[in-house]
Amino acid sequence: MDLYEYQAKELFSKHGVPVGPQRVVTNPADAVAAARILGLPVVIKAQVKTGGRGKAGGVRLARTTGEVTAHAEAILGLDINGHTVRKLLVTPASEIVREFYFSFLLDRADRTFLALASAEGGVEIEDNADTLARVPVDAVGGVDLAKARDIAVAAGIPETAAPVIVRLWNAFVAEEATLVEVNPLVSDSNGDIVALDGKVTLDDNAAFRHSAHEGFVAAAAEDPLEAKAKAKGLNYVKLDGHVGVIGNGAGLVMSTLDVVARAGARPANFLDIGGGASADVMANGLGIILSDPDVRSVLVNVFGGITACDAVANGIVQAIGFLGGAGKPIVVRLDGNNAGEGRRILAEAALPGVVQIETMDAAARHAAELAGV
Ligand SMILES: Nc1ncnc2c1ncn2[C@@H]1O[C@H](COP(=O)(O)OP(=O)(O)O)[C@@H](O)[C@H]1O
Ligand SMILES: [Mg+2]
Repeated sequence: MDLYEYQAKELFSKHGVPVGPQRVVTNPADAVAAARILGLPVVIKAQVKTGGRGKAGGVRLARTTGEVTAHAEAILGLDINGHTVRKLLVTPASEIVREFYFSFLLDRADRTFLALASAEGGVEIEDNADTLARVPVDAVGGVDLAKARDIAVAAGIPETAAPVIVRLWNAFVAEEATLVEVNPLVSDSNGDIVALDGKVTLDDNAAFRHSAHEGFVAAAAEDPLEAKAKAKGLNYVKLDGHVGVIGNGAGLVMSTLDVVARAGARPANFLDIGGGASADVMANGLGIILSDPDVRSVLVNVFGGITACDAVANGIVQAIGFLGGAGKPIVVRLDGNNAGEGRRILAEAALPGVVQIETMDAAARHAAELAGV
């Protein structure tokens, strides 16, 4: 999961990385109130999970409360790389002397952690690629002050940044992040090293160890259905079409999205119910999809592997029982392990609105027709 800048800075601050005070607001009046508390001048920053906010007009300096209002009004609702701005960060303006780039990340290719740093910060990383120092970091050895100095020297960053580099490493490890990026890390007019921007990607596989991150999940889910699915432990992504899709296994679901598209319709979601496909999981999945007002028909595409099709068929029957009926047409394609028995169970249940089609392509075409395309 990627964090917003303000969330990344909350984590930095917890680990002693200097970030300066900040307030998050959603309207111009609150931005003015925040600026009064923090003291002018302030910087008003769009909170969206994409870079290049500065270039897009999403980061502006305000010297007066009038400017705070004007900038807040201009930035709220702005579209930055397809992300609509709904939250603003208000933070005191720093007197920047120099801007650096700094990050720790998981380097999968070299099976190690990596520090990437540059004395040319503030710009996109692609623009300063040749000035980047790449320093591998051993997972066990980690980053102590001496290692932090080595990284700073390799990048041409002042050695006074070393204690901050150690704290960024501590944050990276303790929060189980796969990326911690600060661009720019600045040296200000007091000679202090401060993180003026922050990007953190948390390792979702470690989420169960971090109850403190739950608030980030709630704030991160921009789509209410995605939030609901996440709470039920489902692998769900909302898309913009009208055919709801459920399948078992991410690869099969991806292919199902393709065949729905080839049938001339657009999928309304990605939903992988995984290996089990029990009645509970099926009911949760169908429940989410059927409650999506964009969904006009549902395609359930299951290939029985370890889980046999008869178990999946029973799951579908029970799920529709839990839900008190389908409410929208459902096309089911069962194949693989014990497909014959699965199809028999569904046929005998004769659920209103549920039809079975044996092949994936024909099932997708029928679901597309039912969606009215
Ligand atoms: N608190 C601040 N005080 C002064 N300048 C800032 C502050 N925050 C950001 N900036 C300036 O704005 C630029 C862009 O902001 P940043 O947070 O890096 O957004 P993005 O990377 O999305 O463009 C920074 O490189 C820095 O020069
Ligand atoms: Mg930046």
